[in-house]
Amino acid sequence: MAGKFITFEGPDGAGKTSVLKAIVAKLTTVYGKDLLLTREPGGTDNPIAEQIRDLVLSPAHPEMDARTEVLLFAASRRQHIVQTIKPALAAGKLVISDRYVDSSIAYQGAGRQIGVPAVTAVNQFAIDGFLPDKTIYLDVRPEIGLERIQTTRPDEVNRLDMDALAFHQRVSAQYHELAAQNPARYIIINAEQALEDVIEDTWQALVSYLNITPREVEL
Ligand SMILES: Nc1ncnc2c1ncn2[C@@H]1O[C@H](COP(=O)(O)OP(=O)(O)OP(=O)(O)O)[C@@H](O)[C@H]1O
Ligand SMILES: [Mg+2]
Repeated sequence: MAGKFITFEGPDGAGKTSVLKAIVAKLTTVYGKDLLLTREPGGTDNPIAEQIRDLVLSPAHPEMDARTEVLLFAASRRQHIVQTIKPALAAGKLVISDRYVDSSIAYQGAGRQIGVPAVTAVNQFAIDGFLPDKTIYLDVRPEIGLERIQTTRPDEVNRLDMDALAFHQRVSAQYHELAAQNPARYIIINAEQALEDVIEDTWQALVSYLNITPREVEL
């Protein structure tokens, strides 16, 4: 496969979606159509994965069993890989995903306390060994991330956001564990800075990893 696969991870409100918006604008000047932005749960041009997203994030289903949730996330991810990510990589594209498998391990494994080994095993079946080339981790204390969401978009509080701070602390701790276990894959960005500084640090990390020369950036 010629392309590269990069994921963005971090707790709720870390700034993944905000940073990606700015980064994608910059990367588009370099990559043009050879850049694909996608997200999980769900995925770009992926109706099956998107329908599972709607189900799993809906506040209408507080009765959803925790293991059902794990399986749905994994099923959505499988379809995302097969129908969206791998074809784009095969076409030589740079693929960036807002969340991927580490989110399941952190949120379902540690956050919901289903167990990291069990969630990892279910996801191993789904991803069949397919991991990102790099993971940008936006590091923010969970209380700061949650505060950002509550103050700036209270209307967007979904079922997962309604969980307690303790849940988010377990998520954050598990992400740090994943970063420690995968030092070559993880790039940790201090996401407690002003958004423009988080964007700049992320951009510099990508410029370095992707070998982008200043001449290529027409901004
Ligand atoms: N560095 C920052 N400083 C202050 N506010 C920020 C910063 N980064 C993001 N925000 C604000 O915090 C809120 C959450 O950001 P964003 O939606 O990008 O986070 P996210 O990581 O994608 O969250 P989620 O996991 O819930 O999708 C937004 O309203 C955004 O404007
Ligand atoms: Mg987001």
